Amino acid sequence: MNHPDINAQVAAQVPAWVRHRKLVEWVQQVAALTQPERIVWCDGSQEEYDRLCQQMVDAGTMRKLNPAKRPNSYLACSAPSDVARVEDRTFICTERKEDAGPTNNWIAPAEMRTTLDGLFEGSMRGRTMYVVPFSMGPLGSPIAHIGVELSDSPYVAVNMRIMTRMGRAVYDVLGEDGEFVPCVHTVGAPLAAGQKDVAWPCNDTKYIVHFPATREIWSYGSGYGGNALLGKKCFALRIASTMGRDEGWLAEHMLILGVRSPEGRKYHVAAAFPSACGKTNFAMLIPPRTMDGWEITTIGDDIAWIKPGADGRLYAINPEAGYFGVAPGTSEKTNYNAMATLKENVIFTNVALTDDGDVWWEGMTDTPPAHVIDWQGQDWTPEIAKATGRKAAHPNARFTAPASQCPSIDAEWENPKGVAIDAFVFGGRRSTTVPLVTEARDWTEGVYMAATMGSETTAAAAGQQGVVRRDPFAMLPFCGYNMAGYFDHWLKLGAKLAQAGATLPRIYCVNWFRKGADGKFVWPGFGDNMRVLEWMVRRIEGAAGGNTNAFGVSPRYDDIDWRGLDFTPAQFEQVISVDADAWRAELTLHSDLFKTLAHGLPEALQQTRKALEARLDG
Ligand code: OXD
Ligand code: MN
Repeated sequence: MNHPDINAQVAAQVPAWVRHRKLVEWVQQVAALTQPERIVWCDGSQEEYDRLCQQMVDAGTMRKLNPAKRPNSYLACSAPSDVARVEDRTFICTERKEDAGPTNNWIAPAEMRTTLDGLFEGSMRGRTMYVVPFSMGPLGSPIAHIGVELSDSPYVAVNMRIMTRMGRAVYDVLGEDGEFVPCVHTVGAPLAAGQKDVAWPCNDTKYIVHFPATREIWSYGSGYGGNALLGKKCFALRIASTMGRDEGWLAEHMLILGVRSPEGRKYHVAAAFPSACGKTNFAMLIPPRTMDGWEITTIGDDIAWIKPGADGRLYAINPEAGYFGVAPGTSEKTNYNAMATLKENVIFTNVALTDDGDVWWEGMTDTPPAHVIDWQGQDWTPEIAKATGRKAAHPNARFTAPASQCPSIDAEWENPKGVAIDAFVFGGRRSTTVPLVTEARDWTEGVYMAATMGSETTAAAAGQQGVVRRDPFAMLPFCGYNMAGYFDHWLKLGAKLAQAGATLPRIYCVNWFRKGADGKFVWPGFGDNMRVLEWMVRRIEGAAGGNTNAFGVSPRYDDIDWRGLDFTPAQFEQVISVDADAWRAELTLHSDLFKTLAHGLPEALQQTRKALEARLDG
């Protein structure tokens, strides 16, 4: 599109259902800057989805899978350099550096805007700019918020249709002057006239930028989900956490599940784990057969928006409409419900292609196929894997699937009011030190547990894997403001609700990942995590006992229902024990974290640390 004509052309193409003048002006401004060849106003229809997918099949970006095996599903394989979130290229641009805090990358807004202007100028040349309107949360829910993403990636447009409520109906909620979060995304690979495109355009330079004050997101150079589907981490966590701080609510990296007891009582649990630590599996858990009458239902698998209701309880919605889950390790055994969700209408990214046109990844079946095309387009066989260690699927390979297809979906998952939360669970991936489960004695102690959580890093983010890093609330890469201020927000919200007479959710810290001397996980995990959930529910009901230790209350062997599982007291000791020396060392790491976060750190957390230390020594 020719630069001077852009405003007129955009204006002429605006569909009648878009009545928001400011939105149109913003599209004009971004189009003038990025200079796309054409603009498509997405309506979210099936016809549009099918058309964009076909276009990507023609361009070599996606491959349609065998419809007899995996109806209406596609496989996309990314550039080898564009496979995960890029935390070191993710920025929070507040006026004052201390407002972003020491755990976020910071650049002053004016400087960043100059950089972005340079990068985005002409960045969409030769490409189509998609205008993608979306609601995070059920349309019109009082907890939901709207965003509009301008992207030159059709892969983004179709993934957003699965992951959010995307399309025309959003404009009805927006009306003529509704609020929306503006999100601009480019793969950063303009095409000169006649230049041939590549299957997965992206740029070695990457910027994932947030301006919390103006609630804006600008993403440059990557097509990978967490960097490019801007409704997810960028809006629903980084920008929304800032909105939550300002407006008195919480945006959290949490799954939400329902637990129904055999007596028919229903509870709701929101649980935070770092990326690739089994949130999707936990959210879709199937209780062991012997635990008759217990039922788990799924509300969300990654993000929770939580607002206080008029009754003082905390109500949570899942702002997403789909799952962007880690494929490797997912199988009928580890997550039957996820596999059932993936039967059709799925976009797979960076998994392997089987000879019969279906998908495969490590851990999907006990016996690997004799031959597949790996995620980088090369022949792969079990023999090649043995000789070279090469994986068929990238360890961070993903599926994008509609939440509505999940067999365990909760009847209330689209309730605009949300569900009342009874317990928060925080868990990290720790081979040692942290017990299977501990209940905090009060809200402050729970906030302390969550704030000091550590976890071994995974493939979900670029960088070294398997090293323990502090990941407070599993929000380290996702908090849009100063982490110390975020702790303060949690403490103040709890105090406010308690003062108003509300019963606060209980807080638990869990660790499914303790290893024995043989380097193997001791706890079976997956469905057996129901045993821990049962103990939590019985604690809430006042029916379960426990052992008070330095950090809170943990179950004794006899407090857990072991029917159907051969797990000895000695094994239990291996997952529940508190080693005083290891914990002294752990507390010095908490101190280090608190030193890093000293600016604005709530005094209550320092006090809690001192009390824990004293208990450990006493
Ligand atoms: C995700 C992540 O994609 O946490 O959910 O990386
Ligand atoms: Mn996540």
